[in-house]
Amino acid sequence: MGKMRTQSAPWRAAAVLASVLLVGGVAACGNSDTGGGGTKDDGKITMGFSQVGAESGWRTANTISIKEAATAAGIELKFDDAQQKQENQIKAIRNYIQQKVDVIAFSPVVESGWDTVLKEAKDAGIPVILTDRSVDSADKSLYKTFLGSDFVKEGKLAGEWLVEQKKTASGPVNIVELQGSTGAAPANDRKKGFAEAIAANPNLKVIASQTGDFTRAGGKQVMEQFLKANPKIDVLFAHNDDMGLGALEAITAAGKVPGKDITIITIDAVKDGMQALADGKFNFIAECSPLLGPQLMDLAKKVKAGEEVPARIETEETTFTTEQAKEALPNRKY
Ligand code: AHR
Repeated sequence: MGKMRTQSAPWRAAAVLASVLLVGGVAACGNSDTGGGGTKDDGKITMGFSQVGAESGWRTANTISIKEAATAAGIELKFDDAQQKQENQIKAIRNYIQQKVDVIAFSPVVESGWDTVLKEAKDAGIPVILTDRSVDSADKSLYKTFLGSDFVKEGKLAGEWLVEQKKTASGPVNIVELQGSTGAAPANDRKKGFAEAIAANPNLKVIASQTGDFTRAGGKQVMEQFLKANPKIDVLFAHNDDMGLGALEAITAAGKVPGKDITIITIDAVKDGMQALADGKFNFIAECSPLLGPQLMDLAKKVKAGEEVPARIETEETTFTTEQAKEALPNRKY
């Protein structure tokens, strides 16, 4: 018959002490686990990210940048594609709150309607970082920072280039505008910046302006309508490359030469757009950089560590003419 080992008195005391310490330790961890609203404190960072969708080449490059940067930074990324729908983004953010992620980051599909869900994240003690696009919430304490482009400036740069090109025009210059998704910050802001810039020359007139939803299909379809309704179109301003690329098909099908019969200005500078510019089908691009991943991960680490971060971090960007596109294309990564 096997013998049961009995513990001596000192061993029993040590075991009791150890279990008290262990329970105390777990309890202490438990406190800090839920401290500040329920996020884990295991040294690792989990980020819940809600992406707008996959509507454009820009968006694809942005998603790749975020995923690669998370891996490089050792951040666990929970990723959700909202398919251009605000309700999907709100659902994803609520899931991330329930899962007690350390940081929530998202690129809001539209500007308005975020206060309730942002407040829920704040009440749960989960910091939120806005990336690429911002929200119009009056309460700036609902998010830690906004990392992204100045969309008004992009529209302005596009408009200023056109003003310079058409400075000797003696008659009306008819412009059609392909807007981004309705209610999205880049659509609102690029429209505003462009309108402000072209106001410098009363000959420059936007004769039609409609959303193409930031997609190639949308750009093509709306440009077809523009061409049917307007016999004289001199300029197309598209809020992104993809809509401009879709519009090229409509312009060619209508028997016009893009880049010559119709001057084409776009925003983004993704590879396909840059190729069209180098080929002379586009005439000017204002850059919008999608490579936000590394900065976003850096911010997540800082925010998790309780460090102060600037309320606004603006992306560095440039513009491209045909010659500059030819030069930049061989090294263009996206
Ligand atoms: O928010 C950035 C914009 O969204 C890009 O210009 C566009 O291509 C994308 O879909």
